[in-house]
Amino acid sequence: MKLNAQSRIGVIGAGAMGSGIAQVAATAGHEVCLFDLSQESLGKSKAALVKVMTRLTEKGRVTDDEAVAIQSRIQYAENLSHFDNCDFVIEAVVENLKVKKELFFSLEKIIANDAVFASNTSSLSIASIGGELSNPERVIGVHFFNPAPLMPLVEVVPSLVTSNEVTSQVFDLIKSWGKKVVLAKDTPGFIVNRVARPFYSEAIKMLEEGFADIPTIDWAMRELGGFRMGPFQLMDLIGHDVNYVVTETVWTEMYFDPRYKPSITQKRLKEANWFGRKSGKGFYDYSEGASQKEASTDKVKGKVILERILFMLINEAIDAKFLGVASVEDIETAMTKGVNYPKGLIAWGKELGYDKVLIGLNYWFERYGDDRYRPSVLLKDWVQDNK
Ligand SMILES: NC(=O)c1ccc[n+]([C@@H]2O[C@H](COP(=O)([O-])OP(=O)(O)OC[C@H]3O[C@@H](n4cnc5c(N)ncnc54)[C@H](O)[C@@H]3O)[C@@H](O)[C@H]2O)c1
Repeated sequence: MKLNAQSRIGVIGAGAMGSGIAQVAATAGHEVCLFDLSQESLGKSKAALVKVMTRLTEKGRVTDDEAVAIQSRIQYAENLSHFDNCDFVIEAVVENLKVKKELFFSLEKIIANDAVFASNTSSLSIASIGGELSNPERVIGVHFFNPAPLMPLVEVVPSLVTSNEVTSQVFDLIKSWGKKVVLAKDTPGFIVNRVARPFYSEAIKMLEEGFADIPTIDWAMRELGGFRMGPFQLMDLIGHDVNYVVTETVWTEMYFDPRYKPSITQKRLKEANWFGRKSGKGFYDYSEGASQKEASTDKVKGKVILERILFMLINEAIDAKFLGVASVEDIETAMTKGVNYPKGLIAWGKELGYDKVLIGLNYWFERYGDDRYRPSVLLKDWVQDNK
């Protein structure tokens, strides 16, 4: 089976991600079959697409005819039997290994032997999802970012057993949907969710230590670093239920490497249901009329805040290259297109001087005696080689 513009796409799970992925595929001209166990989710997904299309036609981004065609290409299926003629099925159901595995076991009995299965999982290994199927070589990860129609990045993640043919076909197909596609090794957090960890955890650490308050850390990262949002604003937007679980999963899956250790502060927010924007309270208070503390705009302190987070990020990016998670080019693309970082981290490190980054990390490593500041071997090599 060769995946192409005529391939029929199946999407399972009509929540935030599945609905977005179905829209992307239908916009690219594919017939799409969308299924969800919950009729309510399917109904909401259909209604949301109507709203999106109305907005896009009002803005002149699509014509009325295109909007009608996109919507008519999505079939809202009542059960999985409608997937029998799908060539490429992407699951975006709950992040639960048992549910995803059972789903693929059921699908195996329905769809053609050469159809491709993909998972949009953020944190489970692709090997664990596909390993026990009869044809694990046709199972692959395709990690879209939220909202899928707007975020350009997709991480394509072959497992140990995924065939090269499947990888290259999926890569080309998703590229043809207008996405920036990068190839990531089947390792915890893939590229973005691994490399970005210090953006959140180091910010919380500085807060816990009383080094700076929330608005000041956010200010430093925005104003001095050029990040679109500060770490606390971003965590509140993502939601602490989601962001904390990603951190905890990456940490556990990395055999408790201290570099990825989650924070008790964020765990407490999650436990208290202070998820951030969606619950009205997180690090910030979103209730009407709530007063917000002003940032102190001390540039000297701001520079320390920026460097502490940025050096950790640069170290993660270099270590991801060192451990073969992805190529330098793909790591740079992933962080600029997946989380909108102002520059590629590896290029940013070069601009600042890798020696300076190493000195900073060694200083904190000494000061804290904590392995989280452990510099990557590749960073040390680059400094030694004057790169
Ligand atoms: N939300 C994000 O930012 C994001 C980003 C990238 C990847 N992901 C991943 O995408 C997947 C879906 O996330 P989401 O945020 O869209 O979740 P969601 O809760 O919005 O949607 C999940 C949907 O799956 C449906 N569902 C559950 N079990 C099912 C089953 N067995 N068969 C069919 N439908 C089933 C639910 O009814 C629900 O509508 C997860 O694996 C998540 O880790 C999420």
